[in-house]
Amino acid sequence: MDVESLKQEAGIAACAYIKDGMNVGLGTGSTVKYTILELGRRIEKEGLQIVGVPTSLATEKLAISVGIPLVELDSLDHLDVVVDGTDEFDPDFNLIKGGGAALLREKIVAQASTQMVVVADARKQVERLGAFPLPIEVTCFSWQTTQRSIEAVLGCSTARRMNGEEPVLTDNGNFIVDARTGPTIQNPAETERELLAIAGVVQVGLFIGMCNVVILAKDDGVEVLSKEE
Ligand code: 5RP
Repeated sequence: MDVESLKQEAGIAACAYIKDGMNVGLGTGSTVKYTILELGRRIEKEGLQIVGVPTSLATEKLAISVGIPLVELDSLDHLDVVVDGTDEFDPDFNLIKGGGAALLREKIVAQASTQMVVVADARKQVERLGAFPLPIEVTCFSWQTTQRSIEAVLGCSTARRMNGEEPVLTDNGNFIVDARTGPTIQNPAETERELLAIAGVVQVGLFIGMCNVVILAKDDGVEVLSKEE
């Protein structure tokens, strides 16, 4: 099966976790896009009643275009579930996210959610995190000083993310520095702690202990992996 069909399968399967009356975090990316499209369809055709909280301006635009009612996270006392994509997940359901530069809002929304359902195709499953360059959101102020500190902590090279000639700016007006650690992140919690201790680091694309369910689309079908508590 082609990757796009796998993404679609995983994205649609995640809708099983979304019921009437739920407050739903809407992730960012090309896999969860299919969840959002399917939720829009169910709202229109089946009268599904939910409210959504988007994790990026791109997701906000998509959700509005398919008729999902949106609210501010601040107006809710909790989210029942967030559905989001990932760049990698390991056997403990720790994640690398931020390939779409939305990690800060994604993490705020995931932290507010009772459950985090991740939608992925088989390429995202790894034994150890880090083959995908680790996205780190940093302030524009003195970003090179921050970059040097990140390199000193991780002992690897990094690059500010670019879009052609221009640096990528996140929805929060910050830069992204991608760290090429290779698949060596043995203790993600410690790595996250060390990076967050650098003043110019706004957020790190390591999501630890947040995800409970991975909906994994493979050539032979969709597998639901649940974390044992
Ligand atoms: C955005 C993200 C995405 O969820 C992640 O990059 C996966 O995206 P895709 O489903 O397009 O592969 O973290 O910041």
